[in-house]
Amino acid sequence: MDTDIIKKNYSRLGASLIERLYSSDYLSIGGSVSTDLLADLAEITAESRVLDIGSGLGGPALRLAETRSCRITGLDLVETNVEEANRRAKTRGLDQRARFECGDATAMAFAPGTFDVVWGQDAWCHIPGKAGLIAACARVLATGGVIAFTDWVETGAMDPAKRAELHEATASTEMATLSSYCQLLEENGFSIVERADISATFVEQYRGVIARLEDFEAEITDQFGVKVYGIMMDKNGAILRGFEDGFMGGARIVATLGNGA
Ligand SMILES: C[S@@+](CC[C@H](N)C(=O)[O-])C[C@H]1O[C@@H](n2cnc3c(N)ncnc32)[C@H](O)[C@@H]1O
Repeated sequence: MDTDIIKKNYSRLGASLIERLYSSDYLSIGGSVSTDLLADLAEITAESRVLDIGSGLGGPALRLAETRSCRITGLDLVETNVEEANRRAKTRGLDQRARFECGDATAMAFAPGTFDVVWGQDAWCHIPGKAGLIAACARVLATGGVIAFTDWVETGAMDPAKRAELHEATASTEMATLSSYCQLLEENGFSIVERADISATFVEQYRGVIARLEDFEAEITDQFGVKVYGIMMDKNGAILRGFEDGFMGGARIVATLGNGA
């Protein structure tokens, strides 16, 4: 995998611009509303040991540590994201429950059965090899554990040029579909509890992102120049069109790991 694409997209500057467009602490569009909903579905409690794969600036993990009092480990490929998430955890007195480490989800080294919940919020579209990812999630989960995630997925047929355009705009190398995720989960011993197409919500949220970007035009142009603003408009415009035209959308999935019996 070309991890440079991810490191560039989520550089300190990139992440701070995305956070500005999305919501405080978050590099995903659903923000804390999406976290709370997913946490209810996953039944996260103070006893839960949670792994957040692709933890960003710590938005979901800090929210879960604060509202559910769970212990959570965030894993992220980008060092500056990890530093910032740990800094925010410390500042808010959450560092005993939420800690963040740098690592690649394609090579997770956690011992088998370490976690009760594996969590992802709009991060796994960046991770190549979904079969390997879901198998690794099953491995690090304890029996009866829960996998709970939202993600950007393909929702419609597209030609290679459109796919390449969307991959570039989203810094992704491959996207699953709702069905392909569910199939992989079942092949790895999970039972599906929730499979929701949340594409309509994504379209609305992304219209809000574009409106905020337009509101920030003067500020972004002053601070970073016309070129940066133009790149942001191009990328985010391509993403909105991808959602509006039905090529990609959102999925929310929750599943429990059986005992193999
Ligand atoms: C869209 S952001 C979402 C961050 C966070 N889940 C949130 O909701 O704010 C995706 C995150 O996944 C991370 N990421 C991408 N590829 C990764 C990989 N192979 N292993 C670990 N993290 C990865 C990125 O660095 C980025 O922080």
